[in-house]
Amino acid sequence: MNIAVRYYSKGGNTKKIAEAIAQALGVEAETVDRPLDEKTDMVFLGSAVYANGIDESVKRFLRKNADNIGTLYNFSTAAIVPSTYQQVKKVADENGITLSPREFHCKGSFLFLNAGRPNEGDRTRAAAFAKLARQDAE
Ligand SMILES: Cc1cc2nc3c(=O)[nH]c(=O)nc-3n(C[C@H](O)[C@H](O)[C@H](O)COP(=O)(O)O)c2cc1C
Repeated sequence: MNIAVRYYSKGGNTKKIAEAIAQALGVEAETVDRPLDEKTDMVFLGSAVYANGIDESVKRFLRKNADNIGTLYNFSTAAIVPSTYQQVKKVADENGITLSPREFHCKGSFLFLNAGRPNEGDRTRAAAFAKLARQDAE
């Protein structure tokens, strides 16, 4: 079972979750600028919401790496929006990528909202999500 963690993070919130997931799975968290160089069974992809949308670089990662993604697992942070799942699913569907129904989302700090998030509890829940997803895929 090979596993990769990729993320896009402007402010560091999604990066914190990416690192918790990567640590739980014993891999490195890398940004979406790093392509997948081989077919990868489980790809955990982290994104956030900026003016209601996911960053273009997340969409580009999906388009460019579609052939190397076995199953995609979405994780995200945002101030208000409950998940990036539907936005990622749209691009996944357009590119023939299988997106797991399993996902992780937590609040991310923004201006005066959600101070301190993601926090230790969020990172613990993200790690548990990743381990459970791997367990079920094995
Ligand atoms: C320019 C900008 C626009 C944002 N727009 C939204 C938004 O429309 N809806 C929302 O829920 N959060 C919005 N946020 C909050 C981010 O989604 C939240 O802070 C997220 O955790 C950022 O992740 P990052 O630190 O990994 O970049 C916005 C943040 C920024 C910086």
